[in-house]
Amino acid sequence: MAEPSTSPGTFRLKPLLIIAIVVVVAAVAFAYTAGWLTPDRLTPKKLVAALAPPGGPALGYRRNHAKGICFTGTFEANGDGSALSKATVFERGQYPVVGRFNLGTPDPKAADAMVRVRGIGISITPPDGQEWRSAMIDAPIFAVSTPQGFYELLTASGSKDPDAMKNFIAAHPEFTGFLGWVKGAPWTESYAEERYNSLNSFLFVDSAGTTHAVRWSLVPAAQPVPITPDELAKRGPDFLEQEITQRVAAGPQRWTMVVTVANPGDPTADPTKAWPSDRRTVEVGTLTVQQIEPERDGPCLNINFDPTVLPSGIATSDDPFPAARSAAYSRSYNSRTAEASYYPGTETGAKQ
Ligand code: HEM
Repeated sequence: MAEPSTSPGTFRLKPLLIIAIVVVVAAVAFAYTAGWLTPDRLTPKKLVAALAPPGGPALGYRRNHAKGICFTGTFEANGDGSALSKATVFERGQYPVVGRFNLGTPDPKAADAMVRVRGIGISITPPDGQEWRSAMIDAPIFAVSTPQGFYELLTASGSKDPDAMKNFIAAHPEFTGFLGWVKGAPWTESYAEERYNSLNSFLFVDSAGTTHAVRWSLVPAAQPVPITPDELAKRGPDFLEQEITQRVAAGPQRWTMVVTVANPGDPTADPTKAWPSDRRTVEVGTLTVQQIEPERDGPCLNINFDPTVLPSGIATSDDPFPAARSAAYSRSYNSRTAEASYYPGTETGAKQ
C-alpha cells in the first residue's frame, strides 16, 4: 500500500494550528476593542470616567445630567413632518411620551443655580412601536466640535493645572461660541420656559427614499421670564423641580417641535456650527407635558435616552456625536442600573 504523502503528525498539527490562529485573532480583536493596543484611543470608559467629579461618580445615578425629574405626556403630530420623513411618529396622531427634565451635572444634589445647562429627554412611542428617543439641551450650539474635544474639555475643567482651561481654549477656539452663550444668555425661572435643541444633525428619510439633513428643537409655549442665578439661588436649591411640578399640576405645558432643514453644504458634522437663521423650518407637532413624577420609582428612571434609538425614517448623519453618546450613555446606564441599591429609596434599599 502506498504511504500517505503527509505524515500522520502533520494531520494532527493542522487543526491545532487553525484553533491557535482563531484564538490569537480573537484575543487581538478583544484587546483592540478593549483599547489595550491603542491606549490613546477615546473609549466610552474614558469618556464616562472623565465626567466624574473628583470624589467619584454618584452611584446609582446618571453619569451626566444626574439631577432630573420625570414626566409623562403626549406628542401630537400634525402630519407636516411626513413630507420629510416616513417615520410613523410624524403621521397625524397623538402618541404617548415619557420624558425627563434635567440639569447638565454629574452631581444629583447640585443646586439649580450652579448648573448652566438644562436638558430634556423624550421617548415617543407610536402604536407600531417605532420609538424615537432624543436628549436635547437649552444651549443653541454645543461646546466642542468632536467627542475627543469633549473629553479634552472635561479633562481640562477637572485639572489642577491653572493653565489647563487656557490651553484647552487655545486648542479649541470653537469653544468660545458656547462660552459666549454661557456668559451672555439670560437664565430662565422654569424648565417650562426653555427651548431645547438637538444640536446634533440627523437624516430624515422620506417615503421616496430621499434624505434631508435636519436638526430639531422644542420651542416653549411659555414666555421666558429671565432670572439671575443669584435670584434663582434664593428660591432654593431644588426650585426648578418644585416649580415644574406646581406648574404642570395647574395646567399642561406645551412645546412646538420645529425641524430645521439644512441647505446643501451646511455643516452637519459639527454641532458648534449653527446653520444660518434663514433655513427652512417645519413645525411637525406639539409636545404636551401632562404629569410630573419624581424620578424615584418614576417612569424615566430606567430609560436611557440614547439619541441613536431612532424609528425607520430617521437616521444618524456624519455627525460623530450620536454614536459616541450612545456608547457613553450605555456605559452610564449599565453602571447606574447595576448600582440601583445606592439610589435613594429604591426597593432594593437606600445606601446614600
Ligand atoms: C460625547 C459627548 C457626550 C457625552 C460623553 C455625554 C454623556 C452623557 C451621559 C453619560 C449621560 C447619562 C446617560 C444615562 O445614564 O442615561 C448623558 C445624559 C444626557 N445628555 Fe449627554 N453626552 C454628550 C453629549 C451630549 C449632547 C451633544 C447633548 C445635547 C444635544 C447631550 C444631552 C444630554 C441630556 C439631555 C442628557 C439627559 C438625558 C436623560 O434625562 O437621561 N449630551 N450624557
